[in-house]
Amino acid sequence: MKRLAVLTSGGDAPGMNAALRAVVRVGVANGFEVFGVHHGYHGLIQGTFKALGARDVGGIMERGGTVLGTARCAAMFTEDGQDQALFQLRQRDIDRLIVIGGEGSQTGAHALARKGLAVVGVASTIDNDLLGSDITIGATTAIDVALESVDRLRVTASSLGRVFLVEVMGRESGYIAANVGIACGAEVVVVPESPVDPEDVASEILAAYERGKSHAIAIVAEGARHNAEALADYFAKHHARLGFDLRVCRLGHVQRGGAPGVIDRMLATRLGAAAVAQIDAGPTGVLVGSVAGAIVATALNDVAGRKKGLDPALLELARVLAQ
Ligand code: F6P
Repeated sequence: MKRLAVLTSGGDAPGMNAALRAVVRVGVANGFEVFGVHHGYHGLIQGTFKALGARDVGGIMERGGTVLGTARCAAMFTEDGQDQALFQLRQRDIDRLIVIGGEGSQTGAHALARKGLAVVGVASTIDNDLLGSDITIGATTAIDVALESVDRLRVTASSLGRVFLVEVMGRESGYIAANVGIACGAEVVVVPESPVDPEDVASEILAAYERGKSHAIAIVAEGARHNAEALADYFAKHHARLGFDLRVCRLGHVQRGGAPGVIDRMLATRLGAAAVAQIDAGPTGVLVGSVAGAIVATALNDVAGRKKGLDPALLELARVLAQ
């Protein structure tokens, strides 16, 4: 019988469970024996595998996080770790692996592919910074969660006439910040891809005040050259008044904890199913993602160690709309 293993790796993302469910059920339907690996590459190296049948993945699609558990595994970036992972697979006669995760995880997948393993990656990270997919599993739900929080912050900001610096996740990517910024009607959006001087941020907030706004929201990506805390420190030192009183809110990991919405459930299901088809028929050593609405396989060689850029038109739109 054909055997494949599946794992989730790196930061959890809403929709990982839907992808797992699709891998298991489509895998079983196509004659595979499917093994789930607990806690990502850590579990692969340690050998924590569990056979999964269709019933084992019932009732998980609507849950955030990953029922397999995940990990950030430094050992996977070492030759020893990779060899140990391959050894554990060989011990069980498993010659195919599906990796559901973001850029770091796909770099690990690429390393295993280069050592001869049949590997297929599934594009999954809230940061949406992975090449090979216009949108990655989890990003849409994370944005929705952040947006709901910002809508609430606006209520208190407008009641007290304050400016909120709201820090959102994304590592070195400004995708979450740009989308939350536009969708919440932010006065300012600060992202890593387009570094700005804190003085310019201060000017934009002051200008919003002078235009008669009752409050302001600045969405700041955590990976920006100046994050929310750094901006607040700068303003405290250099600006007696910005027009508004200032508060900082770091949304943090709450953004990862949402239940996946329909966009993420559908994306994850389609990518999970496509990953099985890809690992069955080949070629492997690829990432499956969604490009212009179609499911596309991109060589891991073109994905690993690289990052997708941010569309500058989004930032321009945010700026124009902030009048
Ligand atoms: O990659 C997903 C992500 O949530 C990033 O946005 C964030 O910088 C990072 O993970 C946080 O990592 P951890 O959960 O390990 O603190």
